[in-house]
Amino acid sequence: MLVDTHCHLEKNSYDSLEQVIQNMPGIMITAGTNRETNQEVLDLIQQQKNVYGVLGIHPEFVKEYQEEDIRWIEEHIQDSKIVGIGEIGLDYHYDEETKEEQKKLFERQILLAEKYHKTVVVHSRDAILDTYEIMMRHPNVRYVLHCYGSSLEMAKRFLSLPVLFGIGGVVTFKNGTKLKEVVKELDLAYLLLETDSPYLSPEPYRGKVNEPKNVDIIASKIAEIKGISKEEVIEITGQNAVCQFDLDISL
Ligand code: NI
Repeated sequence: MLVDTHCHLEKNSYDSLEQVIQNMPGIMITAGTNRETNQEVLDLIQQQKNVYGVLGIHPEFVKEYQEEDIRWIEEHIQDSKIVGIGEIGLDYHYDEETKEEQKKLFERQILLAEKYHKTVVVHSRDAILDTYEIMMRHPNVRYVLHCYGSSLEMAKRFLSLPVLFGIGGVVTFKNGTKLKEVVKELDLAYLLLETDSPYLSPEPYRGKVNEPKNVDIIASKIAEIKGISKEEVIEITGQNAVCQFDLDISL
């Protein structure tokens, strides 16, 4: 089963979000990042059969979020079709000054996931060691490292946790050598497909608006790297997604 385990299905990103959803012959997990997009996630999963959601405050919004946003997430975390907490994590790329606040916000949301037995969808940019350290403090939580971009060596360290790696458009880029090595060496049992739509379009659409149906291109690329069939990639990564997120596909 084709599953796009990470996308942002936001109305403002597309001429017709309906059409984009229809174009995808599989399941999508859309991720919230702040108060507004979390609400969008909640509305969308009620309207669209094939869409599931995760709720969270992205590190980019560490300065803007309010206490009631966290309370709101806790109120809805057990809603039907909410399958995790995300997209949360650490991003030191643009803002190093908020490091400590980001760490606190990240860990606090992991604690919520722990309390309600939900999967955590992790964003980590230029912050992999701090990300690792915080995750290691909560070794029983299931994690997805969304858009994994660190080394194979680091990936192997993460394997002591119940973690899966989200593989996206970067694997199709010419300069995606490091990620190709990760995909080649890690067993398919640890990998998930994702697009991060509307961002990170795979080749040959790099730079254009991305959409979940392009997850098929990621599957092809992984198949090519591992020397197996695309069908096998779709089948196994689909099972991985169902297990890691407790996806109830009958909903
Ligand atoms: Ni994302």
